[in-house]
Amino acid sequence: MKLNINGTEKEVNVEESMPLLWVLRDELNMTGTKYGCGVSYCGACSVMIDGIATRTCTLPVSAVVGKEITTIEGVSNDGNLTAVQRAWIQHQVPQCGYCQSGQILAAEALLDEIPEPTDSDIDAKMTNICRCGTYQRVRDAIHSAAKMRMQEAELLD
Ligand code: FES
Ligand code: FES
Repeated sequence: MKLNINGTEKEVNVEESMPLLWVLRDELNMTGTKYGCGVSYCGACSVMIDGIATRTCTLPVSAVVGKEITTIEGVSNDGNLTAVQRAWIQHQVPQCGYCQSGQILAAEALLDEIPEPTDSDIDAKMTNICRCGTYQRVRDAIHSAAKMRMQEAELLD
């Protein structure tokens, strides 16, 4: 079957029921998307499907045929870091880093939906688990990224 991943069409020969996470990691060697709980709880396996942050460890690959899949490998354009990625560096968000690709994808999707989120919005939308407890830095980085995105949008006007 054909998948649209990070703007490129990829052909995979797998069972329709195979979770997208394992197609990415084992078939396509895209290991930025992580395995944590395996039961759609922790968010380590999040990617964007048609712009919505989605857990992939229980998502059959057949469900995403014809959809736009964005993984951590494709979140930035032409090697330019996104505002979220720059804010993550500025705030030194990661500790061990394991959950962070999922956190970044969730943050990108959140800011696409709510450009100026409140702390309550962030707490409601950022459901990814971090065993290192980076939640406050995640929140701070999202506020910074929101400001950067607004400034960039104004410069483009
Ligand atoms: S590995 Fe998918 S939600 Fe935890
Ligand atoms: S940075 Fe270690 S699990 Fe989140």
